[in-house]
Amino acid sequence: MEKMLNVVIFGAPGSGKGTQSENLIEKYGLAHISTGEVLRAEIKAGSELGKVADSFISKGQLLPDELIIDILADTLDKIEKTKGVIFDGFPRTIPQAEALKKMLAERNMEISIVIGLEVAEEELIDRLLKRGQASGRSDDNIDTIKSRLEVYNSQTNPLKEFYIKEKLYAAIKGEGTIDGIFADIKKAIALLD
Ligand code: AP5
Ligand code: MG
Repeated sequence: MEKMLNVVIFGAPGSGKGTQSENLIEKYGLAHISTGEVLRAEIKAGSELGKVADSFISKGQLLPDELIIDILADTLDKIEKTKGVIFDGFPRTIPQAEALKKMLAERNMEISIVIGLEVAEEELIDRLLKRGQASGRSDDNIDTIKSRLEVYNSQTNPLKEFYIKEKLYAAIKGEGTIDGIFADIKKAIALLD
C-alpha cells in the first residue's frame, strides 16, 4: 500500500493555511480537516457547540483543549479512507500536538510533514482586514485580529520548536504569490521518502 501523506499546515492567522490546503487537496487528493471551519459550520447551524465556539472565536481566544481534541477525533473518524489528511488549524497547543500524535498512532497513522507558513505580522493584519470586508467572519476585525496574533505568539508558536525536535518542521516563506508558495511546499513534500 502506498504510504499516506499526512500534512499539518501550520502558521499564524492569515498565513494562508486554508488557501494552500486547497492546492494540496487538488494536487495530492487529501482529505481536509479545518477545526475553524468545523466550528464555523456549528455556529451557522446554531447548535449548542456553535454557541460555545462563537463565544471564544469572536474574542480571538482558543477553545479548551479537551473540547477541540474530541471534535478532532470525531472528525477524523468520519472521513473516508484517503491518501492522507491535512490538519489545518490543529494542533494549536502542545497538549493538542501530543493528543494528535497519540490519536494517529492508535489509527496506524503518523504525521509526514509540518508545513510552517512564515509571514510577517504587518502582512497578516493587512490580509485579515482585507478579508474582513467580505468574509462576515466575526473575528476579522482589528481588535480580534490583535488578540488572535497574541494568542498565536504565546500558545501556538511554541509548537514550531516541538516539531523541529520531531524533525517534521519544514519552514516555508508564506509571502509572495500563492503559486510560488505552493511550488515551495511541493518541493518540501518531494523530499520526503
Ligand atoms: P481558524 O479558522 O483556524 O483561523 P486562523 O488560524 O485564525 O486562520 P485563518 O483561517 O484566518 O487564516 P489562514 O491561515 O487559513 O489563511 P487564509 O488561507 O484564509 O480558527 C479560528 C478560530 O477558531 C480560532 O481563533 C479559535 O477560536 C478557534 N479554533 C480553531 N481551531 C482551534 C484549535 N485547534 N484549538 C482551539 N481553538 C481553535 O488566508 C487569509 C487571507 O489572505 C485570505 O483572504 C487569502 O485570500 C489571503 N491570502 C492567502 N495567501 C496569500 C498570499 N500569498 N498573498 C496575499 N494574500 C493571501
Ligand atoms: Mg483558515
